[in-house]
Amino acid sequence: MKTILITGGAGFIGSHVVRLFLKKYPTDIIVNVDCLTYAGNLENLSDIDHLSNYIFEKVDIRDSLSLNQVFEKHNPDTIIHLAAESHVDRSISNPMEFVETNVVGAVNLLNSAKNSWKESFEGKLFYHVSTDEVFGALGADGLFTEETPYSPNSPYSASKAASDHFVRAYHETYGMPIVISNCSNNYGPNQFPEKLIPLMISNILNGKNLPVYGDGKYTRDWLYVEDHASAIETVYRKGVIGETYCIGGWNELQNIDLIHKLCDLMDKKLSLELGTSRKLIAFVKDRPGHDKRYAIDARKMENDLGWKPKESFESGMKKTIDWYLNNQDWLKNVTSGAYQSYYSKQYKK
Ligand code: NAD
Ligand code: DAU
Repeated sequence: MKTILITGGAGFIGSHVVRLFLKKYPTDIIVNVDCLTYAGNLENLSDIDHLSNYIFEKVDIRDSLSLNQVFEKHNPDTIIHLAAESHVDRSISNPMEFVETNVVGAVNLLNSAKNSWKESFEGKLFYHVSTDEVFGALGADGLFTEETPYSPNSPYSASKAASDHFVRAYHETYGMPIVISNCSNNYGPNQFPEKLIPLMISNILNGKNLPVYGDGKYTRDWLYVEDHASAIETVYRKGVIGETYCIGGWNELQNIDLIHKLCDLMDKKLSLELGTSRKLIAFVKDRPGHDKRYAIDARKMENDLGWKPKESFESGMKKTIDWYLNNQDWLKNVTSGAYQSYYSKQYKK
């Protein structure tokens, strides 16, 4: 029996990872460490929180003392680190929060693990979940690979790059058994509606403008969140210590094309005349330092670990839209209060 400590398990991707691990490893203990920021929501886990092998610890990874206590109490064999400040726009307005959680928090976690595993690293694993944004922006051609040099452009990606470097350094310096994955843009159920796809769905439902940054010709590679969770589980099971894995959906889209597809799907679902949602599109001021294009070469995941995504963009988007339409109370709850002041600051500049 193992103890797997997952940070950020109340967030978007983390909640899908916690659910998958509880299903795949019913005899292991899953400890979810999350301090429940605006992005963390225990409702995301309401279907599994009764399970006897699931434990929730409300702890802030910036607080090294509390983190050490969690390690003493649970003695984890594996850490899967997802807790982070994750939104680029928020990092532009408030970089220090990103340094504190994404850099200092990650180093606190590395120190707690190193201290807890001081007798031996045998059977231990520190798995750091990172982003493709650490590689910077691509031009019209080419793909990010595990060999792409780091070139982060936003405070968010710089903080994630710093945490990747610390994780690698703990492997080189102390011999800590680590693995890192860098993934492309996720979408799916439970994503906070500050990110492109859920923001657009939420705004269509509320008849609000759909804010498109710049000319809308920025490209992202989209992966359905359950595919990312299955990739993380694959790296956990089969990944080689010290290696990095790039995870992606082979699914590049320009923002404006994605938004058009989404609008048409929403019109169909809501029985609106085709073209109704597209009328809400509004081109707005660009994001500073906006990365032009991300795209992942996920061949190492496929060739070395036998993983590839299951969902197409069409099937993933249908599931996503259905989830948001069937969970409008969830959407209402997370868009009340603090979300409103974030929204007016971000979009009424
Ligand atoms: P999210 O913002 O939805 O969730 C983050 C979670 O971390 C929340 O539950 C929050 O409460 C928790 N958290 C934040 N600060 C904390 C702190 N100081 N202490 C404890 N818990 C804290 O993020 P997400 O989109 O699910 O991303 C999860 C991870 O995956 C992040 O590390 C992110 O960089 C990475 N990632 C995300 C994407 C994506 O498209 N969303 C893609 C690649 C990698
Ligand atoms: O690539 C992986 C990264 O993907 C993750 O590491 C981040 O945590 C995650 O937030 C995401 O970053 P992006 O900045 O790519 O995602 P976001 O949903 O914020 O924006 C996607 C694209 O849509 C981007 O080009 C900016 C644009 N956009 C976004 C918003 C919120 C708009 O045009 N309008 C908007 O209102």
